[in-house]
Amino acid sequence: MRYGHFDESNKEYVVTRPDTPAPWCNYLGSVEYGAIISNNAAGYSFVKSGASGRIIRFRFNSASNDQPGRYIYLRDNSDGDYWSGSWQPVCKDLDTYGSECRHGTAYTVIKSQYRNIETSTAYFVPMDKYYEVWQLKIKNTGLSARELSLFGMVEFTNHDHYENDTVNLQYSQFISKTYFKGDHILQVINENGSEASSDVEGSCDVMGEPGCRFFGVAGAEVSAFDGERDAFLGAYRTYGNPKAVEKGKCSNTPAYNCNSCGALQIDLTLKPGEEREIVFLLGAGNEEVASQVINSYKAALSGGSDLAGLQLNELKTLWHSRLENLQISTPDRNFDNMVNMWNAYQCFITFLWSRAASFQYCGLRNGLGYRDTVQDIQGIIHLDCNLARERLSLMLSAQVSNGGGLPLVKFNHIPGKEVTPDESEYSKKTGQSFYRADDALWLFPTVMTYIKESGQWNFIDEVIPYADKGEASVYAHLKQAIQFNLDRQGSHGFPAGLFADWNDCLRLGTKGESMFVAFQLYYALSIFKDFAQRKDEPEDAAWAGSHMSRLDNAFENYAWEDDQYVRGFTEAGYTIGSKNNKEANIWLNPQTWSVISGAAGGEKARLALDQVYNKLNTKYGAMLFYPAFKEFGLPVARMILFNEGTKENAGIFSQPQGWLILAETMVGNGNRAYEYFNEINPAAMNEHAEIRYLEPYVHGQATEGVDTLNHGRSHVHWLTGTASTVMVSIVNGILGLQPQYEGININPCIPSSWSSFTIKKIFRGKLLDIQVDNSAGMEKGVKHLIVNGKTIAGCYVDYSELAERNSILVVMG
Ligand code: GLC
Repeated sequence: MRYGHFDESNKEYVVTRPDTPAPWCNYLGSVEYGAIISNNAAGYSFVKSGASGRIIRFRFNSASNDQPGRYIYLRDNSDGDYWSGSWQPVCKDLDTYGSECRHGTAYTVIKSQYRNIETSTAYFVPMDKYYEVWQLKIKNTGLSARELSLFGMVEFTNHDHYENDTVNLQYSQFISKTYFKGDHILQVINENGSEASSDVEGSCDVMGEPGCRFFGVAGAEVSAFDGERDAFLGAYRTYGNPKAVEKGKCSNTPAYNCNSCGALQIDLTLKPGEEREIVFLLGAGNEEVASQVINSYKAALSGGSDLAGLQLNELKTLWHSRLENLQISTPDRNFDNMVNMWNAYQCFITFLWSRAASFQYCGLRNGLGYRDTVQDIQGIIHLDCNLARERLSLMLSAQVSNGGGLPLVKFNHIPGKEVTPDESEYSKKTGQSFYRADDALWLFPTVMTYIKESGQWNFIDEVIPYADKGEASVYAHLKQAIQFNLDRQGSHGFPAGLFADWNDCLRLGTKGESMFVAFQLYYALSIFKDFAQRKDEPEDAAWAGSHMSRLDNAFENYAWEDDQYVRGFTEAGYTIGSKNNKEANIWLNPQTWSVISGAAGGEKARLALDQVYNKLNTKYGAMLFYPAFKEFGLPVARMILFNEGTKENAGIFSQPQGWLILAETMVGNGNRAYEYFNEINPAAMNEHAEIRYLEPYVHGQATEGVDTLNHGRSHVHWLTGTASTVMVSIVNGILGLQPQYEGININPCIPSSWSSFTIKKIFRGKLLDIQVDNSAGMEKGVKHLIVNGKTIAGCYVDYSELAERNSILVVMG
C-alpha cells in the first residue's frame, strides 16, 4: 500500500494519506535549535540537546507514538464543528477531510481541506535563528462568509532536562509559570533563579538565570489564551477533543504548579475566497527576545513583505545548493531519488544529530558516539568538505593519547581535559573494557576520503590535541590508533574485541579476538602505509607493511574456512562464525570486510561473497548472520537477548548492507550490487509501505529477518550509520567516483542493463559533467574517457586536465 510519493523537482516527499503505518518524520533547524516533526505535526523541539535542552514535550512510545505536537485547531463557530490543521489529533473522517504533508529540506508543509476551509502550515527554523516558525495560510474556498476560531497550541516541558521533566514530577511541576503578554505566552521556569549547570565546577552555590520560552503570534489578535495545559484540554480529555476548542473559548488560565502550555485563540471572519496569513512563533527566550521576534513578523506582515516566505526560500536555497554537489540521472528513479536528495539529506541529519534525537532516541545519549560519528562524516564529504573537516578535527581531538577513541564525545567536549580511567582498574571494577576496539580505526577511511576529495594533503600535518593530554599531527594520531590495537591482541595475533567491535553485542574482552577489527586494522595499515610513503617515511611504511604480512598469514592460517571467514575467537578458544557451529555459522561482516580491506582478493573474495548471497540474502537485504542465537550466547554474544531474526540477532542490520554493496562493486559484480541496493532501498518499498512501516525515504537501523513474524518490517528511523555506508557504496562503488590525491577515477560498477546515465559532480570547485556510455552492456570496466574532447585511456583524470567546467564521456567496455 502507498501513502505518498516523491516530488523530485521540489525535493519533497508528499504524504497523501495521513494514517501512515508509523509517524513519518522530518528534521528542522540546526544544532543550535533542533526540531523533529511527523506528517501529523507531532514531535518536539530542543535547544542544542534533545536531553538537556528540551522545550516541548513528546511522549515516547505512547499508543500512537504521535503526540503531542505543534497543533492548530480550527472551529466553525456556526455549529461548533472542529478539526485540526494536521489530521491528528482531531482525526476527522478521511472521507470528508483532505490532507497532504510535504517533507522537504529542513521544512515541512502540512495542508488540510475541510468544509471549504483550506489551511497550509509551513513549519521551519529560519537559518541561524533560535526559534521556529509555523506559517499558516488559511483560505475560505466556499461561497459564504465563515466565522471561525483558531487555536495554536503547544505543550511545554517544565524542565529543560528530559528525564527531570518526565519522571521528577515532585520537583518539576512546581517550578514553571506562564504569563500572558498580549501577543504571546511566556513560560518562566525557576523564576527565582535556576540551578546553574552541574557541569560547572562549584556550581551549587551559583544561581543561574530563569529559563524562558515563548509561544506567540503575528498577523492576528489574540482573543483568549490558556497557559495551563489541563485548562485547555479539560479533565479526562485528550488532544483530540480539547475543552477549549469544543466550547470555542479558552479560559484565560495561566499556569502555576502544573503542566504549562501555550494556547492562543484567534477569532476571525473569512469572506468567500479570502485568505489570511498568521504566523505562530515558538522558541526559547525571555519577553524581550519574544517581542523582538514577534514584532519582526508583525512588521513584515503589515508592511506587505513575506518574511517567513523569504526565510523558507533561504533554507531551500542553502540545502539545495549543498545537494547540487552531486546530482545524477540513471534509468532508475528510485535510485536517483535517494542519491540526489533523501540519502544525502539523511547523511546530513545523522551527521548533525548523531543518535541523539528521534522518535526512538529520546536524547539521553547526549553526545557523539565515536564510531558512529566518524562514519557519519564519510556520508557528507563529497557534499560539504569543510563541514566534514571541522567535525573530523573534533573527533581527532576526542582520541585518547593511548590511541583509542572516547566512547562518547560530549556535546561540550573539551580537548585535553577529558578524564579517562586507568584501563586495568576499570576492568577490575566493572569486568569490562573501557574502550571499543574499532572506534579510532574508522578514522583511516574518513581521513583518506577527506584528503582525496578536498585535495588538502596538508591536513595530515595538522596538529590536534588528544582528548586527555598532549597533541600530535593527524599522521601521528593515526599511527597511535594502529598502535592501540597492536597493543591489545589475542593468542592468534588478531586484535582483541574489547567492550565491542562494530557490533555492540559482541563482548570479546581483552583476549577474545575480532575478525572485523582485524580486517579494519589491515585496511588502516594499508592506508597508513600509503600516507607514510607520500610523506617519505620509509620506516613507518615498512612497519605497516610488516604487520600487513603478519596478518595475511594469520588470516590464511586461522580465519579462512574453505569458502568463508570466521567472525572471531573467544578467550576460551571458541570460534565464532565457524561453519561447524550450530548457530551463527556464517556472518556477513567478515566476508565483506575481507574484500573492502584488500585482505581477500580473487577467488577468496568471490567465494566469501557467494556464501553471503547463498546463505544470508533475503528479499529485504542480507542478514547479519544465520542461524540466530538461541542457545549459545552470553556472556560474549549478547545479541541472544534479542528475539531471533531481530537487530544484531540474525536481523537484517541495515548499516552492513552498504559494505556489502561496496564489496560487490569492488569485485565487479554490478548486477548483484544493484540487486542488494534494491532490496534495501526505502524508495523501492514505497508501494509496500505497510510491510516496511518506516518512512519510504529514509533508511532505518534494522529490518526484521526471516525468523520473525514481520519479515521486512524496519525499525529505528533516521539516525543510523546506514545513511553513510549506503551513500559511500553508491558514490564510490556503483557510480565509481573515486577521488585520488591528484585527480579522480571514474570507474562505475552498474547493472549491465543500464546503457547510459549522467552525473554532475562538483570536484574541488570544478564541475564534472559526466556522461557514461555503457552500450557495451558491462557491469564494470572503462575503456577510455573523453575529457573536454581529449581521449584518455583508462578511468583516471588528472587534476591538471580539468577546466572550470568539464564535459567527460566515460566509455565502458
Ligand atoms: C547501532 C550503534 C552502532 C553499532 C551498531 C551495531 O547502530 O549505533 O554504533 O555499530 O548498532 O551494533
